[in-house]
Amino acid sequence: MLTIGILTISGLASAQHVQSGRADAGAAVFRQCMACHQVGPSARNGIGPVLNGVVGRPAGVYPGYSYSSANKSSGLIWDEQTLTRYLRAPAEVVPGTKMIFFGLKKSQDVADVIAYLNQFDGDGQQRDQKAERFNNQSPKREDRNVY
Ligand code: HEC
Repeated sequence: MLTIGILTISGLASAQHVQSGRADAGAAVFRQCMACHQVGPSARNGIGPVLNGVVGRPAGVYPGYSYSSANKSSGLIWDEQTLTRYLRAPAEVVPGTKMIFFGLKKSQDVADVIAYLNQFDGDGQQRDQKAERFNNQSPKREDRNVY
């Protein structure tokens, strides 16, 4: 009985793990965004706006960035559901957007990159997983500091 109980619990835990976003994996997915977007305390607007604090924020409001009117007048809030649709097909969700990106095809990549973005508050500070990230022994330590 005990063995069955443990198997069931670990089975549930791993099933959830596949579905929910993993911030560390999202950092790798975010490489596809970095030509145009920055996050972190010293992030600057580039081709695209800074994405600090974007999860849960209305579209088109990051200071100092010149958005398309399509984005600004979209009336969207970048909650997880809307971001999920947008990151799969930006031009379908915001027709006329100047984000020229074909979209992420894998649902797991979408969930992971949203989890990654969700770590950053409006000032680019990492909210909850900071300790975990710094304890995580990765050979690419200098990469982590860039994000
Ligand atoms: C080729 C450049 C480019 C790439 C690559 C790119 N973006 Fe963008 N992104 C933009 C531009 C430009 C905008 C502004 C859109 C507008 O004003 O219509 C934008 C807007 C956004 C917005 C809306 C921000 C806001 O404040 O309203 C989000 C969210 C976003 N991008 C996320 C991503 C993510 C996540 C990735 C990677 C998976 C990505 N983008 C890849 C150029 C890019």
